[in-house]
Amino acid sequence: MAAPFYLKKRYTKVNTNEILYFLEQQIHSVIMATVDDSGLPVTCAIDIMDSDEKGLYFLTAKGKGFYNRLKKNGYASLTGIKGNDTLSCVAISVCGKVQEMGNAPLQRLFIKNPYVKEIYPTKESRQALTVFRLYEGSGEWFDLSKKPIERVSFTIGNQEKEMQGYEITDKCTGCKSCKVACPQNCIDFTVTPAAIKQENCLHCGNCLRVCPQKAVVRRG
Ligand SMILES: Cc1cc2nc3c(=O)[nH]c(=O)nc-3n(C[C@H](O)[C@H](O)[C@H](O)COP(=O)(O)O)c2cc1C
Repeated sequence: MAAPFYLKKRYTKVNTNEILYFLEQQIHSVIMATVDDSGLPVTCAIDIMDSDEKGLYFLTAKGKGFYNRLKKNGYASLTGIKGNDTLSCVAISVCGKVQEMGNAPLQRLFIKNPYVKEIYPTKESRQALTVFRLYEGSGEWFDLSKKPIERVSFTIGNQEKEMQGYEITDKCTGCKSCKVACPQNCIDFTVTPAAIKQENCLHCGNCLRVCPQKAVVRRG
């Protein structure tokens, strides 16, 4: 079997499925944000119980405020982290549309996550449960354990990829003023114009701030 993407040194094509599977299996409990009736963000802990090429699956009880917020707003954001401390951590963030799948996928989720039956022990108590899928959105893998840091963005479903961070235009004269300002040393001066290695960039904006030629622009 091929090495998982997070073990490869360089990844040119991101495999979204592998990232979602890592989220389900290796992180599992995430912090999910929804929006309340006043437009304010509300967070809670939620378990990612399944994943496939169509998205992420989680369950909740229909009586919860969380259920109402999902139904009313139709969007959720999440972040999950794995690691012992900041410098050994990987974080995955996802933001996207959610849809209720009802109880049809419940059996599959119970089989994969038998502990749910300890929280909802009787058939009657499990009547409250319903499954949601996050099916269209975007996300990012962010790995602080690597030097320089590694990040990779991905999309779920039909979401178009949004460019983020910064890039260097052909106004660049190769003066290297940005070299010392870049905390991750991720600017490649072997090409013209110099190029930011996007997979190692913190998006701090220092290169834009210090460039005497105003050759650095924000993407997107
Ligand atoms: C580790 C952990 C995992 C949880 N997983 C879920 C879950 O998958 N689904 C769920 O509905 N609640 C889950 N909960 C409970 C919710 O976080 C909790 O019910 C929260 O209060 C829901 O928001 P609400 O009270 O605004 O409805 C979990 C709690 C913890 C501590």
